[in-house]
Amino acid sequence: MFKALFAAAVLFAASFIAPAQSSVSFDKSTSVFRIDGGNVTYSFGVNQRGELQQLYWGGRLAAGDHIPAAIPMREAASFDSSYTTTPQEYAGWGAGLFVEPALKVTFASGNRDLVLHYESHELTQDGIDVTLKDIKSYVFVTLHYKIDPATGILARWATILNRDPQPITIEQAAAASWALPPAHYSLNYLTGRWAGEWTLTQEPLHPGERVIESRRGTTSHQANPWFAIQTGDPSEISGEVWFAALAWSGSWRITVEQDQLDAVRVTGGFNPFDFAYVLHTGQSLETPVFYGGYTPHGLGGASRLLHHYEVAHILPHRVGQGEAAAPKPRPVIYNSWEATEFTVTEAGQIALAEKAAALGIDRFVMDDGWFGQRKDDHAGLGDWYVNQQKFPHGLKPLIDKVHELKMDFGLWVEPEMVNPDSDLYRKHPEWVLNFPGRPRTEARNQLVLNLARPDVRAYVLGFLDKLLTENDIAFLKWDYNRNWSEPGWDQLPPAEQKKVYVEFTRSVYHILDELKKRHPKVEIESCSGGGGRVDLGILEYADEVWPSDNTDPFDRITQQDGFTYAYTPQIMMAWVTDSPHWLNKRSTSLTYRMLSSMQGSLGIGANITKWTEDEAATAKRLIAAYHQVQPTIVQGDLYRLISPRNGSEFSATQTVSRDKSQSVVFAFIHSTQEGRGFPLLKLQGLDPAAQYTLTPIEGSAAKATPTTASGSWWMNHGLDLGEDFRGDFQAAAFRLDRK
Ligand code: GLA
Repeated sequence: MFKALFAAAVLFAASFIAPAQSSVSFDKSTSVFRIDGGNVTYSFGVNQRGELQQLYWGGRLAAGDHIPAAIPMREAASFDSSYTTTPQEYAGWGAGLFVEPALKVTFASGNRDLVLHYESHELTQDGIDVTLKDIKSYVFVTLHYKIDPATGILARWATILNRDPQPITIEQAAAASWALPPAHYSLNYLTGRWAGEWTLTQEPLHPGERVIESRRGTTSHQANPWFAIQTGDPSEISGEVWFAALAWSGSWRITVEQDQLDAVRVTGGFNPFDFAYVLHTGQSLETPVFYGGYTPHGLGGASRLLHHYEVAHILPHRVGQGEAAAPKPRPVIYNSWEATEFTVTEAGQIALAEKAAALGIDRFVMDDGWFGQRKDDHAGLGDWYVNQQKFPHGLKPLIDKVHELKMDFGLWVEPEMVNPDSDLYRKHPEWVLNFPGRPRTEARNQLVLNLARPDVRAYVLGFLDKLLTENDIAFLKWDYNRNWSEPGWDQLPPAEQKKVYVEFTRSVYHILDELKKRHPKVEIESCSGGGGRVDLGILEYADEVWPSDNTDPFDRITQQDGFTYAYTPQIMMAWVTDSPHWLNKRSTSLTYRMLSSMQGSLGIGANITKWTEDEAATAKRLIAAYHQVQPTIVQGDLYRLISPRNGSEFSATQTVSRDKSQSVVFAFIHSTQEGRGFPLLKLQGLDPAAQYTLTPIEGSAAKATPTTASGSWWMNHGLDLGEDFRGDFQAAAFRLDRK
C-alpha cells in the first residue's frame, strides 16, 4: 500500500529559471501525486479502477492548490471505451485500448491482455517510483519520475519485471506516455538526411497519428527523437510549449496522437517495429529515459530549458561543484579530413599540425586513414593497428610533435564496423549482423559488427582500451557510417534474437562507460556520417557531436538553427572548411565561414597548408576573439532572433551569459534584395537597467551605433547594423559587455 508521505524541497540558486525548488507529494485522501520543479507542476492520480491517470502538466501551481482526484473518462459511446480515452500514465495493451499502448506483451499461455493497476509507490527527494501490476499475472511495471528543481524537466522511464512462472515476450515498451488536453496545437520535430540534417518541421497537429521514428538500429539522420508541441501556431517567443527528448541511440519511435476527442497523447520508447524482448522469470527490462519539459515562453523558452538541462545534467566531464558544475567549453580543434581524406602520413599531418598551432588551435585531430590497409573506404575497418607504410614509427612521433606544439591529440575511429576486406572479417565472418545463408548488404563497403555478442563487445572494448593505453590520446572522434541491415543474432534461439535492438545499444553505452572509467580524461565526439547519432542517450558519454558532414557555411546556418531546438551549442561542432565548398560549389569569404562556425563550438577543417598569410591572420584573430566569448556562446541563453529558415534573406542569433554580464550577437545576410537594409535587431534577455558596451568582433560592413546603451535600449530600440551591411553571404558579430 501507500508507503510514505514525504515532501522534499531542494534549494538551488538558478539564474533565469525560478523558483529553484522541487517538491514531491502524495495526497492520501485523493490518491493524487504531485511533482513540482522549476516553473512546472506535473500530477497524476490513481482512479477508482486502479489505473494511473494523468491529471495535469503545465505551469507551476500554488503550493496550496488542491488537485481533484482522478476520475476516468465516461464511456461516450460503445466505440469509445473509457479505457482508451482516459489518459493513462502507462497503459498496457488490453481491455479496450485502441490508442498506442505503453506496453504490449504476449504471455506463454497465448494471453495478450495486459491491464496495469496501481500497486505501491515510494517518494524520493526529487522523484517518485510507482509500481503497477497486471490485474491477474505477476508482471510488474515500475514508473520512475525525477524532476529537475531548476528547469522543471521531468525524467521518466519504466522498469518491466516478470515474476510469472513462465516467460513473457515484450512486443512494445515505451519509456513514457505524455498527455495533453483537447486544444489546437502545432507539432515541431526534426527530420533530415545525410548532409541535410536538422530540418525543423512545423505543422498543425491533426487527428490521427504522426509517427517519428528510426528503424535503422541507430538514432538516424532522418528523424531525431525530440518533439515540441505548442498551443496554437508555432512561436519562438511566446505560447505554451511541451517538449521531450528520448535518450536512446538505437531504433526508437515517438507517436503523437490526437484522438477522437481531440486529446493528445505522445508515447515514445523502443521502436516496436521488428521488436521482441523475452523476459524469463525474475528478469526485467529497463526502458530508455524520456525527458519532458514545459514552458509558457514559446519554442525559444523550450530550447533554453533543454540546453540548460543538457549542460547541467546530461553531458559528461563536468567541472565545478553540485548544480553549478558544467562541462568545459570545447577546445578549438583542427581536423584533417577535408584536407587529406584517406591520404594521411606522418609528414603530412605534422605539416598541418604546425600550421594549426600557429592559428591558436587547442586540439589536433587525425581523421580516417591511419590504420590497417585503409587506402580508401574499401578496406581496413576492423584492423585497428597503425598502418606501417604511413606511420613507420607508429603514432608516437606525430603525437609528440602535436604536444610539443602545445595542442592535445585526437584520433578518428569507427569501432562498430568492419570491411569485408579486412583481417578481422576474414577471421570472424560470423561477427557481423546477419541471417545465416542470406546476403549481407553492404553500405560504404562495410558491414556492422554485432556488438550485442559478448565476444565482439570484448574485442571492441579491448582494442580501444589498448589504443588509449599505448598512446597519449585526449579525444576520439567515434564514427558510425551506415545503418543496419539483416539484423540477425544467430547465437540466440529465434524467439530471442530481436533483443539485438536493445543489447547492441547497451553494449555501445557499456564500452563508452568502461572507457571513461579506465581513461577518465578522454573525450568523445559522437559522429555518424555527420548527425546520425545525436540523442540524450549518447550524450551521457559523448562530450560533443558532429552535426553534419555538410560544412557549407550557408547551409550550416540553417542546420545549426534546427539543431539548437533540441541540443545545446556546447556540443555543436562546426568546422571552417575550404571555399568553394565541395558540396555546393559555393564560394564564401573566410570571415563568413568563421562567423558561421563561431555560432557553435569552433573548429577548422580546411587545408590550412594552402592558406595565404592574410587568411591565416584572419583565422588567428577570430580564434582568439572566439576564445574570449566562447562560454557565453556555447553555454549562455540562446535567442534565435531572426530565423534563416524558409528562404529568409537574413538571420540572427544572440546568446546571453547566465549572469547577464555579456552577450554575443551574430547577424548574417544571405542575399540582399531590392536594397533592403538589415532589420533593427531587438535583443533579448539583457538586464534592462545595466549599461552595455558594444564591440564588433568582426564584420567591417556593419557599423553598429551607438557603442554604449542600456539593456532597455538594446531590447526596445534595437541594434542598428547600419546602411552598409548589405550584399551576398555577409556576416557580422558583436559582443556586448556590461559596464
Ligand atoms: C564520416 C564522417 C566524416 C569523416 C569520414 C571519414 O563521413 O562524418 O567527418 O570522418 O567519415 O571516413
